[in-house]
Amino acid sequence: MRTEQPKTIHLKDYQAPEYLIDETHLTFELFDDHTLVHAELHMRRNPDRGAGLPPLVLQGEELELLSLSVNAEPQTPNEYQVESDHLTIQPCGNNFTLSTTVRIHPETNTALEGLYTSGKMFCTQCEAEGFRKITYYLDRPDVMSVFTTTIKADKVKYPILLSNGNPIANGEEEGGRHWATWEDPFKKPSYLFALVAGDLWCIEDTYTTGSGRDVALRIYVEPENIGKLQHAMDSLKRSMRWDEEVYGREYDLDIFMIVAVNDFNMGAMENKGLNIFNSSAVLASPDTATDAAHQRVEAIVAHEYFHNWSGNRVTCRDWFQLSLKEGFTVFRDAGFSSDMNSETVKRIEDVAFLRTNQFAEDAGPMAHPVRPDSFIEISNFYTLTVYEKGAEVVRMLHTLLGANGFRKGTDLYFERHDGQAVTVEDFVKALEDANGADFTQFKRWYSQSGTPRLEVAEAFDEQAKTYTLTFRQSCPPTPGQPTKEPFVIPVKLGLLGGQGQELPLRLAGETEDTVTDRVIAVTEAEQSFTFEGITEKPLPSLLRGFSAPVKLSFPYTREQLMFLMQHDSDGFNRWDAGQQLAVQVLQELIIQQQKGEVMVLDQRLVEALRTVLEDERLDQAMVAEMLALPTEAYLVELSEVADIDAIHAARDFARDELVKALYEPLWKRYQANRETSRNTPYVAQADHIARRSLQNIALGYLMLSRKPEVVAAAQEQFDNCDNMTERLAALSALVNSDFEAEKTEVLERFAERYKNDPLVMDSWFNVQAASYRPGGLDRVKALMGHPAFTLKNPNKVRALIGAFANQNLINFHQKDGSGYRFLADQIITLNALNPQIASRLLTPLTRWRKYDETRQQLMRGELERIMASGQLSSDVYEVVSKSLA
Ligand code: TRP
Ligand code: ZN
Repeated sequence: MRTEQPKTIHLKDYQAPEYLIDETHLTFELFDDHTLVHAELHMRRNPDRGAGLPPLVLQGEELELLSLSVNAEPQTPNEYQVESDHLTIQPCGNNFTLSTTVRIHPETNTALEGLYTSGKMFCTQCEAEGFRKITYYLDRPDVMSVFTTTIKADKVKYPILLSNGNPIANGEEEGGRHWATWEDPFKKPSYLFALVAGDLWCIEDTYTTGSGRDVALRIYVEPENIGKLQHAMDSLKRSMRWDEEVYGREYDLDIFMIVAVNDFNMGAMENKGLNIFNSSAVLASPDTATDAAHQRVEAIVAHEYFHNWSGNRVTCRDWFQLSLKEGFTVFRDAGFSSDMNSETVKRIEDVAFLRTNQFAEDAGPMAHPVRPDSFIEISNFYTLTVYEKGAEVVRMLHTLLGANGFRKGTDLYFERHDGQAVTVEDFVKALEDANGADFTQFKRWYSQSGTPRLEVAEAFDEQAKTYTLTFRQSCPPTPGQPTKEPFVIPVKLGLLGGQGQELPLRLAGETEDTVTDRVIAVTEAEQSFTFEGITEKPLPSLLRGFSAPVKLSFPYTREQLMFLMQHDSDGFNRWDAGQQLAVQVLQELIIQQQKGEVMVLDQRLVEALRTVLEDERLDQAMVAEMLALPTEAYLVELSEVADIDAIHAARDFARDELVKALYEPLWKRYQANRETSRNTPYVAQADHIARRSLQNIALGYLMLSRKPEVVAAAQEQFDNCDNMTERLAALSALVNSDFEAEKTEVLERFAERYKNDPLVMDSWFNVQAASYRPGGLDRVKALMGHPAFTLKNPNKVRALIGAFANQNLINFHQKDGSGYRFLADQIITLNALNPQIASRLLTPLTRWRKYDETRQQLMRGELERIMASGQLSSDVYEVVSKSLA
């Protein structure tokens, strides 16, 4: 907890460290009621910082210093100063060894940062600044050191003792204790340090690298989960192969380990050679994890593995550069998932997520550039902007350079900077140097926040046979950035003729006969491109594959959108045309609802979806994506002032009307797919996932009809399926219905069957917390008293409280403010327990400017109440104060 006003840290104040740490030798003595940490640091004056020996300031928080010596000379308390977050000593030479012993309390650490216990095991989470809660250190990523770690613990309770690198020695001690020593030959920053101790089982495999080295692969879990690891192991091996094939990157140690823990603030952590995972990001079995959960495991295993190069071998100079490793690694894992599954479906999911959530962040009080220029608490900057928009920025570089040019650039980056802590400039420079490119203007994507708008106008000249597209870009003001300079916006496009054929794209001045799909770069505030040899007025297909993270507008008619839905050669744009059509239709319904008029659904949407539904040749996953109407959250994001009641009513109405009109084809496809599912053992493979996604979205629609045959079908699916994807979808369909008896019955049976599986119980909480049925808040409050719920587990908090506030808009935004009050109460409690989780839960309240006057007042009132509630963590303080500013 903070005692004084937290300080803002600025990128412009960056200075290299005064001292370096060449070697770090750690010994941990783990006990039930405390842990002792002995650190021996081989330190050296940083030659780059000139002569003289300034005081040495080491970070350290919540540490009880028991002894300190320099070059083996014990120091007396007047030779150093200890303050709440640092320790200062005066070095007496350029090279010296600093030894400290501190006592810490992992057994009472509920913040899940530093060394803590999760159930019966010990584990660590050091990124970003958690290592300073383990020992006094230069806890910053540009201080890289080789680590040797010895762990001593009770042999029966903690048979497995792990740290980074290779095991080099172990032995027994008196009193039933044992020890193990690990050595990591690669220099690394402290945030990549890891330690695990527990009674763990593992599955083991071997991977042979392209150059023929054998790597031992181990995934550790608590014994009850040993049967849920194969999918993660397969994903790991596929990731290792993919990184060799696509980026030429091999693994570098003889052993790679993953450990699953139940209490974890984020998805997973890429500690060198010893990744630590939220169990939700590793465990998967057909009976307990949905298709989406399987794909999430595959993606996160890959993400953390890919960090071995993009993050560990080449790391960040300072935390402002976070996107250097995160944006790049998200881009890399997206490429992997896309290659393992369906490229178009992966892109649709990513873009829908970005537009709904990152665009909202970019429009709110916490908006910041992909490379922020200041922060109070770095934990608050593990954001959608740094990760997802950061990945889009790398994707644009890939689009501009092409796959080969991009690969040349990353090869140079890894070669040039191996073993270094670098900046975003270094990354971009490597791409430039390898390609002779100039990304000076492009780099504005890293420094300017906000989502650019791109308005497009057309002009067809029949005589001259030319077609001109005029692009106008602008970017709204964001905190600290009233005006912006033009971005480089790569626009991938095509032109469709009247029969849906693709026209050749020859720009004025070009002679060669050209392609029908190309990328043009919009670099000016207003810029026109004229295509020649165009004999009929074309229909443009713009921003194919979502080639830039912008809000594009072009005055399409609904007929034109329907045409694109059918004929565009770009699968992503076919989907997007459908979404734009649905948005237009829903916005019309919202206005009718607000005016108190009778709502009338545009039949063109019905017919467009009927065509999709009846086309048996279309990829079933695409059919499912097309059938899914834009979410309420996306409609909120698109609104100037979001009228959540009208949005909910309009979307509900549209869904009801669609089922009335399309009952037959929906039922037909549901039955056909369920029939196949019934006769096919579960496999988490793209075509099977596609079948189930269409089956389950159809079931959700069909339930709205309230027909007995559909209720019976949901019950049949629930009872007889062999996998969690179908079971949870059936449960969710019933939970969202008003068949109270049937709902209660399946909820009880589900809980009885899975009461000992915490991750499945998270889904059970989530389904109920997200249900649009009235009385949502009371349901959530009651569920907080369920024996399987605890505020100390982040997955539980996300499944119940997070799902309610982020996914259940109609219940959360109750006009009496009860949803807001409830959320603020939980944040105040969590602020003391786990500041990172408390801070993340604030997101829906930070969006107060989107709502009507009454709700704005209520939401602000809760933010003010949190502000006045006492000792705030720097995490919560930063978000609340910026939201109220
Ligand atoms: N580097 C992690 C990743 O792969 C992020 C992370 C894991 C993290 N745990 C954390 C960040 C705790 C902050 C706090 O994305
Ligand atoms: Zn990451």
